[in-house]
Amino acid sequence: MPAIPPSDCDPLYRDGRHYDGLNDRFQDDLPFYRDLAVAAGGPVLELACGTGRLTIPLAQAGIDITGLDRSAGMLAHARAKAREAAVKVAWVRADARRFRLGRRFRLIFIPFNSLHHLHDRPSLEAFFACVRRHLAPGGRFLVDVFNPSLQVLTRPEGQVYPVGGYPDPDGQGSVEITETNVYDRATQVNRIKWRFAFSDGRPDVVDELNMRVFFPQELDALLVYNGFRLLEKWGGFDRQPFTSASAKQLVLCAAAPRRRTTGR
Ligand SMILES: C[S@@+](CC[C@H](N)C(=O)[O-])C[C@H]1O[C@@H](n2cnc3c(N)ncnc32)[C@H](O)[C@@H]1O
Repeated sequence: MPAIPPSDCDPLYRDGRHYDGLNDRFQDDLPFYRDLAVAAGGPVLELACGTGRLTIPLAQAGIDITGLDRSAGMLAHARAKAREAAVKVAWVRADARRFRLGRRFRLIFIPFNSLHHLHDRPSLEAFFACVRRHLAPGGRFLVDVFNPSLQVLTRPEGQVYPVGGYPDPDGQGSVEITETNVYDRATQVNRIKWRFAFSDGRPDVVDELNMRVFFPQELDALLVYNGFRLLEKWGGFDRQPFTSASAKQLVLCAAAPRRRTTGR
């Protein structure tokens, strides 16, 4: 597997226990992915799988699943949880822009807004090419990102907003996260800073969470020019159609037939 170059999101994902403290409560997407995985009827690949929040319950449901992530800390926590649950998952440490697994999958998905970590066109093109290479004939690819909120993108600079809290995995107290953000209209990257405050008085930690924004028509065009056919676009995990008011963009794709070149 090629070497993994650094990424600006690495510090945020150094410790899977903190990630789970904040995110374990989110379960609304699990039935959606379980249905897709069962319908796929074959091996499934989750890209940017993190601590296995979805991967492990899908494996428990009998799905043959591979979880790929670039973060050693997130994968270490995922492996420990899978061992404890006595479920089999093929964990792979790799960058989603450059991996070769030597097998193909009936379903590939990148859940929970992880595509927002790929900021530029070369990254996105490399990522989509990897997905295409690993998609079995007739296979499906699911992208799950936000529908951009103009209210969030136009927040006043420096204004602090609450994110959430959880019990501190290293102490007796709790952790509270707040955020500030500045949206860069040229790069379409929302530059977010998360401040972790510890109730036991340890110094705050500030990490970057830079999220590339995908406007709806742009996302569809990116998928099409990177070789996908759009089958469905939903606005939420209950499969309601995508509309202006939707919080999410859930796009189900298949590989488009390759175009013949004329040589001219
Ligand atoms: C929001 S978390 C999602 C984790 C998990 N899929 C879930 O649903 O809880 C984003 C994950 O993306 C991973 N990630 C970010 N950029 C990546 C890349 N280029 N290749 C592989 N993983 C990446 C991070 O390490 C992190 O674990």
